[in-house]
Amino acid sequence: MSVRDEFDQWARTGKDRGMEERHWHTAKHALARMPVEAGEAVLDLGTGSGYALRALRETRNAGRCVGLDGSPEMVQNAREDTDDDLISYVCGDFHDLPFADDSIDHCWSMEAFYYAQEPLKTLRELRRVLRPGGTFFCAVNFFEESKHTHEWQDRISIDMQLWNRAQYREAFREAGFHVAEQDTIPDREIEIPPAEEFPTDEWETREAMVDRYRTYGTLLTVGVVP
Ligand SMILES: C[S@@+](CC[C@H](N)C(=O)[O-])C[C@H]1O[C@@H](n2cnc3c(N)ncnc32)[C@H](O)[C@@H]1O
Repeated sequence: MSVRDEFDQWARTGKDRGMEERHWHTAKHALARMPVEAGEAVLDLGTGSGYALRALRETRNAGRCVGLDGSPEMVQNAREDTDDDLISYVCGDFHDLPFADDSIDHCWSMEAFYYAQEPLKTLRELRRVLRPGGTFFCAVNFFEESKHTHEWQDRISIDMQLWNRAQYREAFREAGFHVAEQDTIPDREIEIPPAEEFPTDEWETREAMVDRYRTYGTLLTVGVVP
């Protein structure tokens, strides 16, 4: 199935809103670390429901904000959720960004980068469109060290890049970024039931759920353009 078909279906069944609710638990902490100043241009790579840009406009008075997504129905839903003239949502592909060189100040991406079939090409595209000093905040929940996320690949026909922390850093550097920061942000908000309630529909053991959310949560890698 193509990115378009898969994620159009997610948008049609309301999964974009579900992701927004769950991802917000850790996304808000990562977004708060972004050095976005008033008037600066921000790209959201794989924007989904578009929530991150709405938050950056409200809290940081960001300038032109563009959310890019390969699913027209995600883009349509995101557009319906804002009347802010400085926010736009466009259909596009991670590997061929429709922006001029040095035209973006910061890029945000949550739970999307690992869908890039050629991740280095995507990183080089980001390196091209970001201005010197610009940042790429790349947040993922699916990564090698977080063992209990690996099975997600079985539920989707699109290949997902299962990188470890070091692979993220190496790829960022290979594409021409400095790595300014790498960290895991635990999800402390999701409710973890007491031991006697396991197994649940989703989790075999309480330990597995704790490992997924509290120990690992979201891996954030921050690249800076020299
Ligand atoms: C799991 S969703 C995450 C959405 C949002 N960032 C969030 O935090 O809820 C991943 C998004 O990336 C988009 N995507 C995946 N591969 C893509 C590609 N190659 N080009 C453009 N968008 C892509 C999908 O359409 C989907 O909306």
